[in-house]
Amino acid sequence: MKQNQNYLLSHSVALIGLMGAGKSTLGRYFARSLSIDFKDSDDEIVKRAGISIPDIFELSGEEKFRDIEQRVIEDILQGSPVILSTGGGAFIVPKTRNILSNKSVTIWLRAEPETLLSRMDNLHNRPLLAKGDPLLTLTNLSNERKRYYEQADVIIDTDNLPAAHALRELVSALKDRNVLKLEKSVQKEL
Ligand code: S3P
Repeated sequence: MKQNQNYLLSHSVALIGLMGAGKSTLGRYFARSLSIDFKDSDDEIVKRAGISIPDIFELSGEEKFRDIEQRVIEDILQGSPVILSTGGGAFIVPKTRNILSNKSVTIWLRAEPETLLSRMDNLHNRPLLAKGDPLLTLTNLSNERKRYYEQADVIIDTDNLPAAHALRELVSALKDRNVLKLEKSVQKEL
């Protein structure tokens, strides 16, 4: 006899937080480990617009970007439960925040600006960090956005926390809320 363990999500789970928080990395890791669907809202925006995020900001402006972001997130959360990595500003826009809060369990991956910067290998793909001192910009964004991120359902402090530990915290928070359930199926071996 062989036991298969399948994890089921009862609701979508949205990772929120500043650039460099590890939302995509942790989201992919989580989804792969538990065989659950994963979506990255930035990737979906690029697919929908057919151009890169810096190009959307440059050609159409941030407002247009936020508009596409809101529609993309709404569409993703209409479907069956997924783990969703959101862009750092998504939860700051009231309409998008409402959609995320109503349609998913929100997880803030918190970290200090120094940690965020040290985790980022590509600043060129992030229009908000293209000008000026990136550490100062991240510090200012952190101060401005904290009051929104604090409204998340779960907060995980990721400073000095290896990805495997962050994953364990995420899994345990979701099990505690009954959002992640284990479905055991027993199969006869051929
Ligand atoms: C943004 C974060 C980016 C991307 C866009 C705007 C923000 O996503 O959505 O550049 O406002 O913080 P990541 O947080 O995935 O880098």
